[in-house]
Amino acid sequence: MMNIVLMGCPGAGKGTQSAKLQDAFHLKHISTGDVLRAEIASGSDLGKQIAQIINRGNLVPDALMISMLEKIVSATDVGIIFDGFPRTVAQAQVLDEMMRRLQRQITAVVMINLPEDEVIGRISSRRQCRNCGEILHVGPEGGTVCPVCAGELYTRPDDTPARAKHRLDVYHKDTLPVKKYYQNSGKYVEINGNQTPDQVFKDICTVLEKVK
Ligand code: AP5
Ligand code: MG
Repeated sequence: MMNIVLMGCPGAGKGTQSAKLQDAFHLKHISTGDVLRAEIASGSDLGKQIAQIINRGNLVPDALMISMLEKIVSATDVGIIFDGFPRTVAQAQVLDEMMRRLQRQITAVVMINLPEDEVIGRISSRRQCRNCGEILHVGPEGGTVCPVCAGELYTRPDDTPARAKHRLDVYHKDTLPVKKYYQNSGKYVEINGNQTPDQVFKDICTVLEKVK
């Protein structure tokens, strides 16, 4: 069973590639960002607390994130793409322990690299569909209707240039150490994310064919 950790800075293309990988390899895509946004959308008290944190571009506490993730992982009996988790070394350690306990293994840790001067542009042009979750890149004229399902497109509250810049700072401080954690595991690979989505996908597939 293939279990992939997909890493990369904000806007690197984790969500875009996860959608492709999910279809091609029959995996379950778990985006911790989407899990948190779903909790916010439910209108729960917990969701209100989460919104205060993530709309500003900060990380939710490790213990909360881990307990939310663990429920989903234990209820999943197919391979998983972890998108946006682990984001701290503490989360990476817990994931290792959780996978051991559930008799699963991380097959590969794929880092999608993107030059920093591409990040803000990509994030400012992103829209996501409230209905089907499709991630889109819109031109200067924007867009309000999903071309896939005609659902409503929205802009994430943490996607303003200032918040995206802050997320990048948080990424450097808290998440880049996770790269060091995995670098010598024999499972860590890097992909050039500054290519067309199809080319990035091809490169990821080439890597996965070797470790599958
Ligand atoms: P999360 O939702 O994970 O956000 P992120 O890591 O900042 O990443 P993004 O979703 O912004 O980017 P992406 O890499 O998925 O890129 P995408 O494919 O959309 O997390 C949000 C927040 O939740 C965090 O800030 C934190 O507060 C909280 N959180 C989440 N996980 C947590 C955790 N584990 N612990 C604690 N807190 C957590 O692509 C971006 C744009 O580029 C799109 O418009 C797309 O169409 C376009 N694009 C994609 N690929 C290409 C390409 N190859 N060429 C041109 N354009 C492209
Ligand atoms: Mg994403």
